[in-house]
Amino acid sequence: MGVEPGKRKEELASIRLGIELGMTLIDTAEMYAGGEAEKIVGEAIGGNRDRIFLVSKVSPGNATRQATIAACERSLRRLKTDRIDLYLLHWRENIPVSETVDGFTALLEATKIRYWGVSNFDLDEMEELSQITGGSAVAANQVMYNLNRRGIEFALLPWCRSRRILTMAYSPLDQGRLARCARLRGLAAAHGATPAQLALAWLLRQNSIVAIPKMSRREHIRANRAAADLSLTADELSHLDLAFSAPTKRIPLEMT
Ligand SMILES: NC(=O)c1ccc[n+]([C@@H]2O[C@H](COP(=O)([O-])OP(=O)(O)OC[C@H]3O[C@@H](n4cnc5c(N)ncnc54)[C@H](OP(=O)(O)O)[C@@H]3O)[C@@H](O)[C@H]2O)c1
Repeated sequence: MGVEPGKRKEELASIRLGIELGMTLIDTAEMYAGGEAEKIVGEAIGGNRDRIFLVSKVSPGNATRQATIAACERSLRRLKTDRIDLYLLHWRENIPVSETVDGFTALLEATKIRYWGVSNFDLDEMEELSQITGGSAVAANQVMYNLNRRGIEFALLPWCRSRRILTMAYSPLDQGRLARCARLRGLAAAHGATPAQLALAWLLRQNSIVAIPKMSRREHIRANRAAADLSLTADELSHLDLAFSAPTKRIPLEMT
């Protein structure tokens, strides 16, 4: 969102519809559309701020202690708010993560953020993070996770779950591919749902998983809200396990 100025009105209406329907976790980042996505989110939220759980991300190039603090302050201005509920390091590059954690800790103390976390961290990076001063306060890891990409189930997801670290599934529809997936069509039709709804319900049935589909079309927003009310039977879950197999060994984390 925020890439094409001509779509601004439609994008504002989409976010507002999602909020109206109760989808009150909004994920954005300073790098999305060069800050324009945060501006749209801030405008769309308006007087609803207290109902929203707002997630944003610092870019890896801004991940030193001081630059993290400054990036957060810029995001707060664009989002027109005084706090970000969950602030993530978008991915890791060469700045020591201890610097970013120091920045996050200062932001927590200043109540500019409520929680902090990371994104695109594989198991070895999570283990390293948990060892550094303040690192065990990590609240979430946002990673690519969907029926087509189940690699995290082997080690990363159980590791996070056992430490009560939230896993946020990005690209939960595999960037729209699962909505068009022939392997999901029969099962979805039998359930009276669409393939996209089935793919989201499969994620949402799990404890400690948040799914953040991107959706701009009104029919997708309504459909995705309804997916949260679907419950899958044991037979349907077995069918999905056969069609989209779980990992049998550790594989490197996939990212977009
Ligand atoms: N942390 C990271 O590094 C990272 C990386 C990538 C993404 N993300 C986050 O994850 C979010 C989602 O990921 P994503 O955009 O890569 O992929 P996605 O959510 O898996 O797929 C988005 C696509 O699916 C379509 N769609 C949504 N609901 C649908 C439905 N019910 N039926 C059919 N099609 C549907 C959307 O269409 P319309 O838009 O036309 O409705 C859009 O084309 C992003 O917005 C971002 O916040 C984070």
